[in-house]
Amino acid sequence: MAEVIANIEVAPGIFRIQASGSYPGRMGQFYMVRAWDNYPLLSRPLSIFNRTEGKIEFLYHVAGEGTERFSLLKPGDELHLEGPFGNGFPEAEGRIALVGGGIGIAPLFYALGAYRQADVYLGFSREPYLVEEFKAATSGKVVVNVGGIILDEVNFCVYDHIVACGPEPMLQAVQRKKLESASQANVYVSLENRMACGIGACLVCSVKCIDQRRKACSDGPVFLAEEVVFG
Ligand SMILES: Cc1cc2nc3c(=O)[nH]c(=O)nc-3n(C[C@H](O)[C@H](O)[C@H](O)COP(=O)(O)OP(=O)(O)OC[C@H]3O[C@@H](n4cnc5c(N)ncnc54)[C@H](O)[C@@H]3O)c2cc1C
Ligand code: FES
Repeated sequence: MAEVIANIEVAPGIFRIQASGSYPGRMGQFYMVRAWDNYPLLSRPLSIFNRTEGKIEFLYHVAGEGTERFSLLKPGDELHLEGPFGNGFPEAEGRIALVGGGIGIAPLFYALGAYRQADVYLGFSREPYLVEEFKAATSGKVVVNVGGIILDEVNFCVYDHIVACGPEPMLQAVQRKKLESASQANVYVSLENRMACGIGACLVCSVKCIDQRRKACSDGPVFLAEEVVFG
């Protein structure tokens, strides 16, 4: 059981929660998180936003009942974490771009521990948040777009690897851009399918891929963009 250290609203409806405890995890992996006993039945998947010695952090937006409950947590409250789950982002070298739309920026911050020189593209529909933290964490450039299309700022032809996380229409556009450009980059999308068990047992998170159906929780959530068949 982790203990909440802080739970701060960094922008309207967006919270950064810190909890104490030694929780492992690679970049792009997630935890199933709950702050209640029996109801709601399901824990909620949240990506690792950051980890340091004895501390783990998540960045979440209040989307419904579960995340609303998270937003009410105070220092000293308990947080139950199961994980880490998922394949995470690949180890990569060369020129790397991280592209986040909205709360899709959450898993990208922790990735900067490994991709130290990555360029970061952050797209917000309204007020931007944590931009200074991203700038401090990379020696690459940080490009911010508010209210527009962040993907328009990314030249796919100058990168070896591109990792994108955000709403499905954005990830679909990432796939289109990869297929329509002459880019040789390995392009990855991190999916946020609905999940129930988080461990590959229930099929709720099924993802249609070009060869077969896969599970976002255990085969993903990170997939090569061209292998996903978006609905
Ligand atoms: C691998 C992964 C990583 C994620 N990381 C983050 C993150 O770092 N920060 C963040 O804010 N959000 C993240 N999400 C989305 C987050 O899990 C949902 O917003 C959250 O579960 C909504 O729960 P709720 O009770 O507030 O909303 P409700 O709509 O009341 O949830 C009802 C049910 O649907 C599921 N659900 C609803 N929306 C989603 C969704 N978009 N994705 C998955 N399950 C959903 C919930 O688990 C729950 O079982 C992630 C999702 C996945 C799959
Ligand atoms: S959430 Fe149960 S199989 Fe993926």
